[in-house]
Amino acid sequence: MSHGAWVDARNCDRRVLRDMLGSFMTGVTVVAARNDEGRPSALTANSFTSVSLDPPLILVCLAKSSTSLGVFSRAERFSVNILGGWQRDLSAAFASRSPAKDAALETLTQGSPPTVDGSLATIACTQHQVVDAGDHIILIGGVTAFTSKAGEPLGFFRGAYFDFGPAASGDQVLWPIAASRGAAAPENAAG
Ligand SMILES: Cc1cc2nc3c(=O)[nH]c(=O)nc-3n(C[C@H](O)[C@H](O)[C@H](O)COP(=O)(O)O)c2cc1C
Repeated sequence: MSHGAWVDARNCDRRVLRDMLGSFMTGVTVVAARNDEGRPSALTANSFTSVSLDPPLILVCLAKSSTSLGVFSRAERFSVNILGGWQRDLSAAFASRSPAKDAALETLTQGSPPTVDGSLATIACTQHQVVDAGDHIILIGGVTAFTSKAGEPLGFFRGAYFDFGPAASGDQVLWPIAASRGAAAPENAAG
């Protein structure tokens, strides 16, 4: 099957470009950190990617229009929480700028970085590098510790959520492991 006509990415409607990029199916994460006064900030992000195993590095791309940008640019620590199928409402809340987001922020764990309890996996990071990239920044984190448990992931494809059917709540913790030997787990680390 041949592909359709080429679209000039530099001159096309941004919506058309965005729709095309949305054909890449992803999982969904919530990225969370604290500001200088200790207040939590968080947003939904599907631009998460693993970068390196040795040393363990991950990245997430944040829009410069995000109100949390300053917090994430400066935060020494942040968490990436990979959402399960049962956390769709939480994803919607953290993607909003509404009272639902304020309520969701209240549910983050205490400690630094704050985390989303009950996620499919939670990754605690220290800031490794911030790279300027067009209308986004690339936030690269050095993984210090993580938790992971059984369950189905939340997915995102062409602007809509999907999951893999009746999702297990993932109560069983499989491997709460410090990423490097002797690494201090975050004070709020689950498990
Ligand atoms: C599924 C999904 C994935 C998203 N991924 C990203 C992302 O990777 N980076 C980003 O900056 N915003 C992303 N967003 C948008 C932000 O979550 C949204 O703009 C949020 O309101 C930003 O919050 P803030 O302005 O309070 O920081 C995504 C939204 C959804 C629903």
